[in-house]
Amino acid sequence: ALPKVYVTQRILKEGMDLLNGHVDYKMWRGEGAPDRATLLREVQDVEGLLSMPANAIDDELFSHAPKLKVVSQHAVGFDNIDIEAAKRHGIMICNTPDVLTDATADLAFTLLLAAARRLVECSEYLRRGQWTTWYPDMWLGMDTAGKKLGIVGFGQIGQAVARRAKGFGMSICYYNPSAKPAAEKELGAQRVSLDKLLQTSDYVTLHCPLKDETRSLIGERELRMMKPTAILVNTSRGLVVDQKALCKALSEKWIWAAGLDVFAKEPVPLDEPLLTLPNVTVMPHMGSATYDSRGGMSRLAAQNLIDALEGRQPLYVVNP
Ligand code: GLV
Ligand code: GLV
Repeated sequence: ALPKVYVTQRILKEGMDLLNGHVDYKMWRGEGAPDRATLLREVQDVEGLLSMPANAIDDELFSHAPKLKVVSQHAVGFDNIDIEAAKRHGIMICNTPDVLTDATADLAFTLLLAAARRLVECSEYLRRGQWTTWYPDMWLGMDTAGKKLGIVGFGQIGQAVARRAKGFGMSICYYNPSAKPAAEKELGAQRVSLDKLLQTSDYVTLHCPLKDETRSLIGERELRMMKPTAILVNTSRGLVVDQKALCKALSEKWIWAAGLDVFAKEPVPLDEPLLTLPNVTVMPHMGSATYDSRGGMSRLAAQNLIDALEGRQPLYVVNP
């Protein structure tokens, strides 16, 4: 018999085609992600779980899944998974880096430019019928050429953003636990402290994973260090930023604008005060949301799962 697998949300056809013939899979077909009780029930007799960031994968879940061997996460980030608990239960965790690097970097740059040029505000102004005249100081925004981009987290995605920024004539500095000499050379990027990055950058973009060291990395102290003309872009995880402090920073103009794809709570509640601010450009967690990228993620998540269950070493294991 084929190994039993549960897939927590519908994946693209490319991924399902791979699963067919290799595993006996059941997939959540409801809206969004399965609720906790459903998930705990569905994992009871599975050897594999294809998971998404929306569900917490923790010690309690592992205790409900005595046959579970592998969790294959359909995402690069895996902060929803308790890696220590997985280790204790002897469960392999996989993820899907690389295939979403360029799409996510594109979205970060999209938010950067949209915030800089007030794309959404201007578009709404036009559609409301308020564009009745043209004048030289209407809706002025910020330049990119000659400005400094500070990149927090200089992994694959951070470096892909740097490559785009270089093409726009920006200078680049980064903050990362380790030095990246090859990327420094390629992109002319300078490694600096977080404080220096915040104090000197015209744009700050976040590309670090969410973990203990990065939770609320950008709080009131950090926001107060930034230039009043600075723009903050976040396509990583909402909890890397203290969202309350960010709201204060944007409404009191400690910084000029923000472009956000991620939030402390997702979907973001409509009464979130950030959403009332005109200088905030928002997207509903869409970093990897392209046909190519999501196709690649579904294929990779399926392949990692199959490899683990068939006794081969998957391409991307988080806890080798
Ligand atoms: C999405 O947020 C991911 O981590 O891939
Ligand atoms: C504006 O449209 C210009 O031509 O400068």
